[in-house]
Amino acid sequence: MDQKLLDKIRGLKDKRRVVLLAHNYQPAEIQDLADFCGDSLGLSIQASKTDAEMIVFCGVRFMAETAKVLSPGKTVLIPDRQAGCPMADMITAGQLRSLKQQHPDALVVCYVNSTAEVKAESDYCCTSANAVAVVRSLPQDRRIIFVPDQHLGRFVEQQTGRPLILWPGYCTTHVLISQDDILQARRQYPDAIVMAHPECSEPVKDLADTLLSTGQMLKFVQNSPAKRFVVATEIGMIHPLKKARPDAEFIPASRRGVCPNMKKITVEKVLASLENLQYPIEVADEIRLKATRALQRMVEIRPGN
Ligand code: 13P
Ligand code: SF4
Repeated sequence: MDQKLLDKIRGLKDKRRVVLLAHNYQPAEIQDLADFCGDSLGLSIQASKTDAEMIVFCGVRFMAETAKVLSPGKTVLIPDRQAGCPMADMITAGQLRSLKQQHPDALVVCYVNSTAEVKAESDYCCTSANAVAVVRSLPQDRRIIFVPDQHLGRFVEQQTGRPLILWPGYCTTHVLISQDDILQARRQYPDAIVMAHPECSEPVKDLADTLLSTGQMLKFVQNSPAKRFVVATEIGMIHPLKKARPDAEFIPASRRGVCPNMKKITVEKVLASLENLQYPIEVADEIRLKATRALQRMVEIRPGN
């Protein structure tokens, strides 16, 4: 990595009082540059409490939008405008309104991987780390609409025993990890612990030893005596896992588990973002105000609460 480029980024970051946030799926060099690297819940909490003047969000658009809703007074930049999330685009606010009309008494929980417009139509947001805790906190006599990820939704149904009204959305990256990948990894590494993300398909999750968000994976390996782990999630996750447990071996369940949108952020684009203040995230006031309530509830409900 070009040292001059890194020094320039660090200098501009200090001068402009910027906090650089990066998701665990970001390229390794971006994670190493960041002030805080973590899962969607951890990043949202950081974005809501930072005293920096500006946030540069190295992740995908819905994450930067969440930061803007939680910190409306700050400039929030995303270094690549095209870094979106296909799952977030699988449901529109209009589609959610129609679903609500079909189930007028239901509460709406939306996965944070959604647009600000969809969040504005929702009662609660959640991440994969606190989805179970959010659903458990809701009154037993209410039906629950859960959007957009059907796979996270089924995981929540299993954990809580509550049937949910699901939307057929999915992560285009996690569904590329197959049952055969896990069976083969099990044959090759019989001593390994298999960790899978709840966004994986049900056959993959059924074969895993434990189902965890990316932040929970980090905590899990730090507390585990095991020396070898098979990791069924986006490939960027291998980097923070290795940093957390340098003595252990981490094997990606599939080399196909790559999110092309997460990989759109580069060191050069981070520099351009700091130099030219590009690309600012804007959320219209009426959407922001409605989305705030659901997001505030999400950052307040911690896993296990
Ligand atoms: P977490 O880091 O919250 O587990 O999220 C996974 C994900 O797909 C983010 O896009
Ligand atoms: Fe969206 Fe999946 Fe990429 Fe996460 S990994 S940003 S859910 S496409």
